[in-house]
Amino acid sequence: MADGYEFVVVANRLPVDRTTGDDGDQHWTRSPGGLVSALEPILRSSGGAWVGWTGAPDDDTGPQEVDGIQLRPVPLSAEDVDRYYEGQSNSTIWPLFHDLVEPPVHRRPWRQAYESVNRRFAEATAEAAAHGATVWVHDYQLMLVPAMLRALRPDLRIGFFLHIPFPPVELFMQLPRRADLLRGLLGADLVGFQRPHAAQNFLQLAAGLLGLEPDDDRVAYEGRTVVAQAFPASIDVAETDRLAADPDIQREADRLRAELGGDRRLLLGVDRLDYTKGIEQRVEAFGELLAEGVVSNDEVVLVQVATPSRMRVAQYQQLRERVEREVGRINGEFGAVGRVPVHYLFQSRSPAELVALYLATDVMLVTPLRDGMNLVAKEFVAARRDEQGALVLSEFTGAAAELEDAFLVNPHDVEDLKRAIIAALDAPPDDRAVRMRRMRARVQAHDVDRWARQFLEALA
Ligand code: F6P
Repeated sequence: MADGYEFVVVANRLPVDRTTGDDGDQHWTRSPGGLVSALEPILRSSGGAWVGWTGAPDDDTGPQEVDGIQLRPVPLSAEDVDRYYEGQSNSTIWPLFHDLVEPPVHRRPWRQAYESVNRRFAEATAEAAAHGATVWVHDYQLMLVPAMLRALRPDLRIGFFLHIPFPPVELFMQLPRRADLLRGLLGADLVGFQRPHAAQNFLQLAAGLLGLEPDDDRVAYEGRTVVAQAFPASIDVAETDRLAADPDIQREADRLRAELGGDRRLLLGVDRLDYTKGIEQRVEAFGELLAEGVVSNDEVVLVQVATPSRMRVAQYQQLRERVEREVGRINGEFGAVGRVPVHYLFQSRSPAELVALYLATDVMLVTPLRDGMNLVAKEFVAARRDEQGALVLSEFTGAAAELEDAFLVNPHDVEDLKRAIIAALDAPPDDRAVRMRRMRARVQAHDVDRWARQFLEALA
């Protein structure tokens, strides 16, 4: 398109996966996920494009169209992936923004790579966008892009949304070159966060670090007004509901239950294998309940899906080793031939397979130590059209502010985890149904379409 696109989404990853067809050829297919399904209609109707990385190093894929979405790949070399993605994004910013659950690592070459990759994203966006277009930049990997893009293209309307927590002032202050990151975000017209206190942290930093004078939810900066507000992210409720109503998926849920031992109660965890998700603490709590005889291998089973993630980063490899050792220990100590207490799957599962698991579950365990939102909690709720199943939910997730009828828990406290698991298992069916009904009403009324629409209306 010679004149550029009216709406451009910018995210570290393109919304596609590379698959190999029956003919042996490689194809791109649209990846599942709320963000892409919410933005797809807008991308189609407004003549939009998506700028991002394919996920493979040294990939020279050119512009593509997949399912009617225009893709503008930004290539990353193996060194870029090492320094910008695994380094600065996921070994510095990620742990620091998640309350130092693991210690952040600071390296000058990583910061340089982060800056140069952000510049390439800004340049690719400047090239793709039409005059006066709307650009929506996503997440912590690209916090310098708004200011870089504004310098190149002052005619654009620029929004930024942070999907992860924004840290308290004293933690943000630990970052080397912290003021640059803040100025990067201030390049946007609207900066969106999951929770109101995150927006307040950001405005407080603008005052403390840059001497700006915020007024309510906005701040004047370089002759413009920058607005900082909360927009809690959500899921594609209609799609989850469609899967949950599918008789094949319901049959698969029945099969899973029978396979796991029909009369055993099922506990489920579904997470990326990430140290922020509290998988270790959850497994430890379950192990203690077994050791104390509060639950037995004949009564209860835990299925933990741990999706492989960022496996080249040392902290993720170490986490995997610790979790797998503990699962092995628990199964060795409390298992029987043909019946183990923990089924651990270090695998990715399709949305349909996950919904079958959600439907088979008695108690869903969503217990991150820190999480910006947590969409798995919302997916579980959206899948339970039968109004059954209980949710144990960490107070340290953004979702806890919306799903107050969950069994809320402090995951840093193993005793509290054990208490919440037992409370959820023992809750009378009508109590579970009342809680589920209220949570479903909330999620249904606040789905991902509404989230995207509200953000874009505020930006317009
Ligand atoms: O929301 C957090 C986030 O890092 C997204 O930006 C990202 O797409 C997702 O989690 C998965 O992480 P990654 O892209 O590093 O595999």
